[in-house]
Amino acid sequence: MPERVEVPERSGIPTDDPFNGRQPTSHERMTGLPWDASYRDGPAPWDTGQPQPAIVRVASEGGCAGLVLDAGCGTGENALHVASLGLRVLGVDVAETALAIARAKAAARGIEVDFAAADALQLKHLGRMFETVLDCGLFHTFDCSERPGYVASLASVTEHGGTLYLLCFSDEGLDTGPHPVSQEELTSAFSPVDGWSIAAIKPDRVQTRYHGDLGAPAWLATIKRT
Ligand SMILES: C[S@@+](CC[C@H](N)C(=O)[O-])C[C@H]1O[C@@H](n2cnc3c(N)ncnc32)[C@H](O)[C@@H]1O
Repeated sequence: MPERVEVPERSGIPTDDPFNGRQPTSHERMTGLPWDASYRDGPAPWDTGQPQPAIVRVASEGGCAGLVLDAGCGTGENALHVASLGLRVLGVDVAETALAIARAKAAARGIEVDFAAADALQLKHLGRMFETVLDCGLFHTFDCSERPGYVASLASVTEHGGTLYLLCFSDEGLDTGPHPVSQEELTSAFSPVDGWSIAAIKPDRVQTRYHGDLGAPAWLATIKRT
């Protein structure tokens, strides 16, 4: 049985502020809605109810080790999958409704996993380090002004020698997703001077509720913390 990761369920910030005291992200400013709203009326467009096949493959190949962080975990399918393999996993998100759904799934499936409200732009407040970090569809929601802060936030919680797996929409191929990212954007965001080394950026697919069986074109980046 994996050791439980003890984290506060909430940041301690009150209440009727839909952003819980944090700055709205560019995506929230663009839509005019907090992320949480995406989860209130049924599944969000990206919420397939299954782990992403790319993450299932990474995990089956032994790519996850140590304490695992799923940044922007949504309703938790990726975190739940990795935890079901016996790893200790913490999923964090700003959407309390998604976290409540994730916790309910964990309880229903009898999987030991922790879900906590936390801002991925301020991960150092978690006060712990992770050997493996997953980002499935979060990086690509941040605009150019947010990405350096997000990458620094990831750096603050990724152990040296640890691995970040980043699955994002790609700008190559047909029927691209809403926030297509180029390989160059990934390589410039995770630079050696900031303590990152890109091991691989490979074409992959992201499953969504609206892209059909094949999913959308994606990059799976394997990025080492040096
Ligand atoms: C496209 S969804 C992907 C969700 C999940 N990873 C999945 O594969 O289903 C992006 C997720 O990131 C979360 N998110 C956005 N900005 C965030 C932030 N600053 N901190 C933590 N989570 C954030 C959203 O609430 C949403 O659940």
